[in-house]
Amino acid sequence: MLSLLTLCPPFVILLWYTMVHADGSVYQTWDYFMQHGLQGFNNIWPKPTAVAWKIIACFAAFEAVLQLFLPGKRVEGPISPAGNRPVYKANGLAAYAVTLITYLSLWWFGIFNPAIVYDHLGEIFSALIFGSFVFCIFLYIKGHLVPSSTDSGSSGNIIIDFYWGMELYPRIGKNFDIKVFTNCRFGMMSWAVLAVTYCIKQYEENGKVADSMLVNTTLMLVYVTKFFWWEAGYWNTMDIAHDRAGFYICWGCLVWVPSVYTSPGLYLVNHPVNLGIQLALFILVAGIVCIYVNYDCDRQRQEFRRTNGKCLIWGKAPSKIVASYTTTNGETKSSLLLTSGWWGLSRHFHYVPEILAAFCWTLPALFNHFLPYFYVVFLTILLFDRAKRDDDRCRSKYGKYWKLYCDKVPYRIVPGIY
Ligand SMILES: NC(=O)c1ccc[n+]([C@@H]2O[C@H](COP(=O)([O-])OP(=O)(O)OC[C@H]3O[C@@H](n4cnc5c(N)ncnc54)[C@H](OP(=O)(O)O)[C@@H]3O)[C@@H](O)[C@H]2O)c1
Repeated sequence: MLSLLTLCPPFVILLWYTMVHADGSVYQTWDYFMQHGLQGFNNIWPKPTAVAWKIIACFAAFEAVLQLFLPGKRVEGPISPAGNRPVYKANGLAAYAVTLITYLSLWWFGIFNPAIVYDHLGEIFSALIFGSFVFCIFLYIKGHLVPSSTDSGSSGNIIIDFYWGMELYPRIGKNFDIKVFTNCRFGMMSWAVLAVTYCIKQYEENGKVADSMLVNTTLMLVYVTKFFWWEAGYWNTMDIAHDRAGFYICWGCLVWVPSVYTSPGLYLVNHPVNLGIQLALFILVAGIVCIYVNYDCDRQRQEFRRTNGKCLIWGKAPSKIVASYTTTNGETKSSLLLTSGWWGLSRHFHYVPEILAAFCWTLPALFNHFLPYFYVVFLTILLFDRAKRDDDRCRSKYGKYWKLYCDKVPYRIVPGIY
């Protein structure tokens, strides 16, 4: 925890510096440090500027207003470990459409040029690093003093509380859900906005957009569109239903998502590779298939749970395990575990197409440098670790029923291998 708390912020700056000022080459950055030592780090770390703060504040305020005021269906989240059921307003897709249309219109009508965001990106990331850290301190204090629900509490260790968070779904007032804001409306939205920004920057620099950039941006936008299309489903996943609001999830979504997740596109701005129509189309189709399979895995699980197992999985009645468990306040409840369809191939098969999709939107960068592939490597480590954490959590929640599932579906992620 301590190493992630201290190493992630400088890494974000190093990644940005290498992509924008060192030709995407880790060797060049290494060389720079060999010459300038650690003092060199101080020189490259951009100070947050007024422009950076203004850009972040406008974006955050715009997204908060959309989250609060756009109409949306009332959606109930899953039952929490303390037995609560949070309620959300599903207006993510509308917020996504309004955001992208507004951003493109600002550019089209000459009101705001997205290239400015690229030109101040270092300062923006720097401001995000510090601002989000302060925000996590706010979450920590709020969790101690005024938790929003009984799904909160301290582990007794200040570092663990700060890192993993105190509250499961902290709110401001009754309706403004902080994790929906940090994870969806700021983090995931910034991913789409930055993908478009990089594309526009390349256009402004070269007067055209390379096919590699088009494939990268299209795939990232398809992925984020899928995310917002399915946002209410995301509220049933581990990020929202199990991980508390702390540095891990909130700082990660506010800083790591905009900087690291978008980095293959950032690399392509100054490396306009020409793929040719055949290769470009091949990568595009492969990427879309992976995003679809990933979506279908999530959809299958949620449809199965929503209908209480009364649905068809790959055209047949689903095979399942009825697993009972006890909530923290002693109530006995039961959940259904799907053991057919994608969920019969392995216990976390959905991570395979997730990783392959990320590989597909990085592939347009070809193989001149390693750094564009950092996100794919990071995602692979994250998801393998997540699968293990989830297995451990489910084993302690469901006990013998989880063992039954593991006997029936023995592989954790890659069928036949792992
Ligand atoms: N790009 C990224 O950084 C990133 C990171 C993480 C996830 N993702 C994506 O987000 C999506 C959600 O993934 P997730 O990691 O949050 O996990 P998830 O698969 O949505 O949630 C796992 C939960 O599902 C339930 N479950 C497990 N096995 C089940 C079964 N056989 N049948 C029914 N329910 C079952 C368990 O919760 P209960 O307690 O309810 O039983 C388990 O904790 C995926 O598409 C993933 O690829 C992306």
